[in-house]
Amino acid sequence: MGGKALKSPGKRAIPSLAYLEHVPNFSIGPDNPESETAPVLPVAGATASHAAKSAIASSATAIVPQGGLFWDGRADTLQQQALGPLFDPAEMASTPLIARNRIENAPYTKSIKALAGPAAETSPDLLLSEALFALARYQIEEPSFHRYNSKFDAWLEGKTRLTPQESAGYRLFNDPMKGNCAACHLDRPLPGNLPPLLTDRQYEALGAPRNMALMGPYENGHFDLGLCEAMPGGSKQSGAYCGMFATPTLRNVADRKVFFHNGVFHDLRRVLDFYVLRDIQPELFYSRDTHGRVRKADDLPAQYQSNLDRTDAPMDRKPGDQPALTPEERAAIIRFLETLTDG
Ligand code: HEC
Repeated sequence: MGGKALKSPGKRAIPSLAYLEHVPNFSIGPDNPESETAPVLPVAGATASHAAKSAIASSATAIVPQGGLFWDGRADTLQQQALGPLFDPAEMASTPLIARNRIENAPYTKSIKALAGPAAETSPDLLLSEALFALARYQIEEPSFHRYNSKFDAWLEGKTRLTPQESAGYRLFNDPMKGNCAACHLDRPLPGNLPPLLTDRQYEALGAPRNMALMGPYENGHFDLGLCEAMPGGSKQSGAYCGMFATPTLRNVADRKVFFHNGVFHDLRRVLDFYVLRDIQPELFYSRDTHGRVRKADDLPAQYQSNLDRTDAPMDRKPGDQPALTPEERAAIIRFLETLTDG
C-alpha cells in the first residue's frame, strides 16, 4: 500500500531494482539479444508478429520490442524511473515542491548543491534532477544492487556443484522441448564472459490472469494493457503490443512474494503450473463469464487476444495435449530457480 495515507494499492507488482545496470533504452528492432555487435538491419516487410523463440537459435529478422525500465518500458534511465514512484499518488505521493524542499533541508544538501553547480541556485528543477541523477548513480555503483554471487554464479565459475535435482531443473529450464525458459530468461554467460541476467529484456503477452483484487471484475472494463499504452499513440496506434510486459530477471526470484506484472501469483509452483497448463486446463487460472464459460486470458480484451504467445514451449499446447513438464519436472525447475538467489 502507498499514497499519502498508505492505503492505496499500486496497479502493478513492484519490480526489482537489482540487475538494471546495463539495461538499454527502449527500442523496437531486430531480435538479437545476445549480440553486442551492430544489429542486423530489419528486412523489408518484417512485422511485429510473434516469431517463435528458441533457446538454440534466435531469428535475427524478427522485429521485437526490447529494453527500457518498468514492466512496460516507459523509462529509459534510472533517473527517469525514479520520477515514477516519487510522484505517483498511489506510491510516494510527493510533488516537485515537497521533493525540492526536502533536498534543500537534508544532511546531504551541500553535496547535492555542489554537484548541481551554481545554476541550481536559480533553477530548483536542476537541483531535483541532480538528486535523481545521484539516485541513479547510487544504484549503478553500489555493488549490492548487482552482486552476481548466487549459487548459480558460483557454479558457472566452476566453484560449486548443483544437486542432482538442481541440475535436472537446469537442463529442463534450457531444453527447447520442455521448459524452454532460457529462450526468454537467458542463462548463458554474455559476450565478454559477463554473468547472465536471466532475461532477454524483451516483451511478451503471456496472458497472466486478471488480479481481481487490483482491477476489479472483468465487467468494469478496466484493463492494464502494458506496453502498448506506454507507447506513443497508445493502444490505438500500437495494438500489436497490447498485453505485453517485460520479461523480468529471474535472479532472486525465489525471494519474491508476488509474481508477474499484476502480482496475481503468490508462489512459484502456481507460476510453473500456469506456464504448463494455461491452455490445457484454463479453468485452473481464469474466471468465468455469466454463462459459466471460462474466459481465457481474462485480463486481455478480445481484440488483443491474438497477441498472446502460443508459439513458444511450454505455452504451445492445446486442450487435450500432454503438459510440457510433469509436476516432478516443474518442482526440479523451482529447485534450479532457488540457486539464483544472491549471497
Ligand atoms: C516467451 C518468453 C518466456 C518464456 C519462454 C518464459 N518466460 Fe517467464 N516470463 C516472461 C515474461 C514476459 C514474464 C512477465 C509476464 C507478466 O508479468 O505478464 C515472465 C515472468 C516470469 C516469472 C515471474 C517473475 C517476477 O518477478 O514476477 C517467473 C518466475 C518466470 N517467468 C519463470 C519462467 C520459467 C520457469 C519458464 C520456463 C518454464 C519461463 N519463465 C518461460 C517471459 C517468458
